[in-house]
Amino acid sequence: MKRILILNGPNLNLLGIREPEIYGTDGYDALCRLVQAAADELHVEVAFAQSNSEGELIDLLHRARTEHDGVVFNAGAYTHYSYALRDAIAAIGIPVIEVHISNVYAREPFRHESVIAPVCAGQICGLGTQGYVLALRALAER
Ligand code: DQA
Repeated sequence: MKRILILNGPNLNLLGIREPEIYGTDGYDALCRLVQAAADELHVEVAFAQSNSEGELIDLLHRARTEHDGVVFNAGAYTHYSYALRDAIAAIGIPVIEVHISNVYAREPFRHESVIAPVCAGQICGLGTQGYVLALRALAER
């Protein structure tokens, strides 16, 4: 059975509370339940992790190299400027799919650039929390 890590970065622990007009009213726990239900249907094993710190996200990606077959990753604002996360993704050699709940291209210009996109297997944005499910399906079927 494939093992996929669902990794969330800064401020995503506040889903449901944080700017609900942009990120929706479902909380982080509801997101995990949605993804777990999809994983059960797809017969993949999922693990969930969330961190607000860059170093911890790097450590989690390093661990995923040996413990998981792929990562669904919402790096939050780090997406737009963290070369350290980009290097970590490039280093681990397993597919990482970048996910954003909001359509970052319809928002402020600083959100239009993703420094992690070139080293990710793909990118999904603007489809709400369904984006995580779609990314999981893509990794399950790879
Ligand atoms: C986000 C988009 C980022 O620009 C933002 O900093 C986030 C969430 C999203 O899921 O839409 O924290 O990654």
